[in-house]
Amino acid sequence: MADPYDIAYLNGKYAPLSGLSLPVLDRGFLFGDAVYEVVPVYTGRVFRADSHYDRLQHSLDGIRLDNPLRREDWNALLASIVQRNGAGSMAVYLQVSRGAGAGRDHRIRPGLTPTVFAMAMPLADRSAARARGVTAITADDIRWARCDIKSTALLANVLLASDADHAGAEETLLLRDGLLHEGASSSVLIVTNGCVRVPPYSHRLLPGTTRDLVVALLAADGIDIREQDIPEQTLRCADEIWIASATREVLPVTILDGQAVGDGRPGPLWGRVHELYQRCKENGGEIT
Ligand code: PDD
Repeated sequence: MADPYDIAYLNGKYAPLSGLSLPVLDRGFLFGDAVYEVVPVYTGRVFRADSHYDRLQHSLDGIRLDNPLRREDWNALLASIVQRNGAGSMAVYLQVSRGAGAGRDHRIRPGLTPTVFAMAMPLADRSAARARGVTAITADDIRWARCDIKSTALLANVLLASDADHAGAEETLLLRDGLLHEGASSSVLIVTNGCVRVPPYSHRLLPGTTRDLVVALLAADGIDIREQDIPEQTLRCADEIWIASATREVLPVTILDGQAVGDGRPGPLWGRVHELYQRCKENGGEIT
């Protein structure tokens, strides 16, 4: 039997990862000229795929690349990856690059065939992180000025994630011009005086599918939620800090730069949001 999560897709072909290869002139490899998505799957069911397809389209528009597949083709591709990898819980990684040119040329030339790649990845068990909370550090946001595009050019994020890792932390929260925008690979939400705050969307941060879902779940639950700038000082005084992403769901940050957040334990509103999120998963992604 094949290794779990081993069957991947590349340009129309399904095969074990080790059996797939790309031309070295692929622009994803040379320039990071590619965009991607990470879609969670729970017990064989793809979770809120449309929110990922919408954002993929936004990213493709941002890099001036036509979507190589229709939505029904993406659905079929995802379903096939899920089936071929055991139809359990996993994350599916999707990537579209501009394809391989005749040589190394920065300019976008017509006529290239995009490269479409997909693979399955395990979803880590986060129960310890949920019980205890996680640690985060802060850093200057050293990324480019179009962070709303989910580009595979992730060198800054790689360095920032490694900084967190070296500090024994789960995530690096990013500050630019004194404001919090997001984490190196997650959205950030904070709680102050019972009110949930999220930074306004702009080119400075990625529109998070998990953040959007959490905002909708909280709003449906009657919880006060505001899109508002989050200055560094407000972050440091927050009662609760949460990081959110498709693979982590919502995790409570209980230590920020060595200081306890609130009383240093996962907060009550996080408990509520976690409950709402799990219910939403059971309902196949519906907001009830
Ligand atoms: N990261 N912001 C950044 C910079 C991210 O990389 C991510 C996700 C998010 C959260 O988006 P979503 O809720 O749609 O996952 C916000 C993915 C999981 C990754 O790079 O692996």
